[in-house]
Amino acid sequence: PGGSRLLLPGLWLLGSVSCLLGAAGGDRRKVTLHYNPGSNSSSVNLLHVRAVGRSDTLHYVWSSIGAPTVLLIYTRSERSALRVNWAKLLSASPAGAIWIEPPGSVVYATAVVFTKVFEYNGANASALSKGQEEPFYPPYDLAGFSWQSVNHTVNQTALTAQFQGVDTSDPGGAFRNGTISFQVTAYEQGGRDGPLPRLLHTANSSKVEFIMDKVAPRGNSSRFMLEVVTVEEKGGGHKRLQSVRSIDDEYTPTIFEMAQLVSGPRNDSIGPNFFQWKTTAYGSRDASRENAIRCRYSPLQTANRTLPGPSIAHAYFGEGLGRSHSVAAINISFGGEDGEVYAEKGYLSWSALLGFGTPPEDAFSPLVMAIVAVGLGTPVVLLLAGGLVVLFARRKHQSQYEPIN
Ligand SMILES: *[C@@H]1O[C@H](CO)[C@@H](O)[C@H](O)[C@H]1NC(C)=O
Ligand SMILES: *[C@@H]1O[C@H](CO)[C@@H](O)[C@H](O)[C@H]1NC(C)=O
Ligand SMILES: *[C@@H]1O[C@H](CO)[C@@H](O)[C@H](O)[C@H]1NC(C)=O
Ligand SMILES: *[C@@H]1O[C@H](CO)[C@@H](O)[C@H](O)[C@H]1NC(C)=O
Ligand SMILES: *[C@@H]1O[C@H](CO)[C@@H](O)[C@H](O)[C@H]1NC(C)=O
Ligand SMILES: *[C@@H]1O[C@H](CO)[C@@H](O)[C@H](O)[C@H]1NC(C)=O
Ligand SMILES: *[C@@H]1O[C@H](CO)[C@@H](O)[C@H](O)[C@H]1NC(C)=O
Ligand SMILES: *[C@@H]1O[C@H](CO)[C@@H](O)[C@H](O)[C@H]1NC(C)=O
Ligand SMILES: *[C@@H]1O[C@H](CO)[C@@H](O)[C@H](O)[C@H]1NC(C)=O
Ligand SMILES: *[C@@H]1O[C@H](CO)[C@@H](O)[C@H](O)[C@H]1NC(C)=O
Repeated sequence: PGGSRLLLPGLWLLGSVSCLLGAAGGDRRKVTLHYNPGSNSSSVNLLHVRAVGRSDTLHYVWSSIGAPTVLLIYTRSERSALRVNWAKLLSASPAGAIWIEPPGSVVYATAVVFTKVFEYNGANASALSKGQEEPFYPPYDLAGFSWQSVNHTVNQTALTAQFQGVDTSDPGGAFRNGTISFQVTAYEQGGRDGPLPRLLHTANSSKVEFIMDKVAPRGNSSRFMLEVVTVEEKGGGHKRLQSVRSIDDEYTPTIFEMAQLVSGPRNDSIGPNFFQWKTTAYGSRDASRENAIRCRYSPLQTANRTLPGPSIAHAYFGEGLGRSHSVAAINISFGGEDGEVYAEKGYLSWSALLGFGTPPEDAFSPLVMAIVAVGLGTPVVLLLAGGLVVLFARRKHQSQYEPIN
C-alpha cells in the first residue's frame, strides 16, 4: 500500500510533465493574419494566415469566394509569399489567380472545401440506421451564400477570424434570424483548447469551427449534415479515413473516437496532412456534456469525384484540377436518435483541426493513468497480501502440526 501511495503522485507528476512538454512542443511559429492582401475591397473575403517556422512557412488561405475553402500550402522557405491576382480571381476563369512565390519553395498543397449543408428528417431512427432513404429537404449550397466582411472579426491577438453567411435565396425564411459561420483559429505553438471538445493542436495546425446559429429547421425532427470535399495532389496519394479510438474520455467526456482524413508525402519531414475531428458537436455556446450532439460520418467517397466550382481551390490548382489531383468527399452528420438538441437552443457547433505533420493524438490523461495505476496496483497489493497470508497460514499450519511429528 505504501508503494501505491508513492506511485500515484509519481504518475500524476509524470502526466503533468508530459503535458507541459507537449504544450511547449519545441516548435513555435510566428503567425500573422492578413485580410484581402493587395485589395481595398471588403465585398469578398480572403484571409491569409502565414505561419513562419525556423526554415519553412505554412500558408493557410481561407476564403468565401465560391464555396468556403481553405488552402494549406507548405513551403520550405521562411520568405515564401502569397500572391493574388484579384482581377483574375474575381473573373469567370480564376485558374492561376493564386500562387506562391518563389514557386519552387512549395513542397505540398492541399485544400478543404465546405460545399453543402443537408437537412433531413431524423425522426425515424430505425430507417436511418438501415441506411434507407431519409427524407431530405433541398440542400443549402454554401457557394451561393452571402458572407459578411471578415475584416472586423480578425483578431491578431487571439489569431481568430469569422466567416458568417446567410443563404441569399432562402425561400423558406430559415435564415431570417439565422447564420452559418466558419470560425478560424491559428496557433503559434502546441497546446490544448480550453472549451470542449478540447482538441489537442500543434504549431503546424489550425482549427475551423462550423457553427449554425438560429437557422430555422424545416421540420420538427431536423438533422443537419455538412459535406466536406478535399483536394489532393496526385503525388500525395489518396486520402485515407481513419478512426482512432481510446478508452480515455477525460478531455472530451463520453467521446471515445477521433476521426481523421490523412494523406500526403510520407518521405518528407513535414509528414502527411490531416483533417481531424472528435465525433461530437455541441448544441450550445457553452459546450458541455449535456448538450453534446452525436456526430457520424459517411464512408469517404473517392471514385470519380470532381470538385464542384467555384472556389479558391480552382484558383490555386488551376484548370487541370480534375486530372492531376484526387478529390475525396465525406458527409459529417450531426445528431441521430439523441433527441432534439439543436431544436432546443437553435445552435450547433462542430470543430475540426487541419494541418501538416503527424495528427495529434491524446495521450492518457493523468487521472486515467492514476486510475489504471490503482487498478493494476490493487491486484498486485492483494496478491502480495494474499501471498503473505498464505505464508503465515502455512507457518501456523505447520506449527500446529509440529507437535504430532
Ligand atoms: C486602394 O485605394 C487607394 C486609395 O483609395 C488607391 O490609391 C489604391 O490604388 C488602391 N489599391 C488597390 C490595390 O486597389
Ligand atoms: C480592414 O480594416 C482595417 C482596420 O479596421 C482597415 O484599415 C482596412 O482598410 C480594412 N480592409 C479592407 C480591405 O476593407
Ligand atoms: C420508420 O421506418 C421504418 C422502416 O423504413 C418504417 O417501416 C416505419 O413505418 C417508419 N416509421 C415512421 C413513423 O415513419
Ligand atoms: C482579441 O482576443 C483577445 C484574446 O482572446 C481578447 O482579449 C480581445 O478582446 C480580442 N479583441 C477584440 C477586438 O475582440
Ligand atoms: C426571428 O426572431 C423574431 C424575434 O426574435 C421571432 O419573432 C421570429 O419568429 C423569428 N423568425 C424565425 C424564422 O425564426
Ligand atoms: C411539429 O410539432 C408541432 C407541435 O409540437 C405539431 O403541431 C406539428 O404538427 C408538428 N409538425 C410535423 C410536421 O410533425
Ligand atoms: C517525396 O516524394 C515526392 C513524390 O514521390 C517527390 O516529388 C518529392 O521530391 C519527395 N520529397 C523528398 C523530400 O524526397
Ligand atoms: C469512373 O469513370 C470511368 C470513366 O468515365 C468509368 O469507366 C467508371 O465506371 C467510373 N467509376 C465509377 C465508380 O463511377
Ligand atoms: C452526402 O449526402 C447527400 C445526401 O444523401 C448525398 O447527395 C451526397 O452525395 C453525399 N456526399 C457524400 C460525400 O457522401
Ligand atoms: C511541425 O513542422 C516542423 C517542420 O517545420 C517539424 O519539424 C515538426 O516535427 C512538426 N511538428 C509536429 C508536431 O508535427
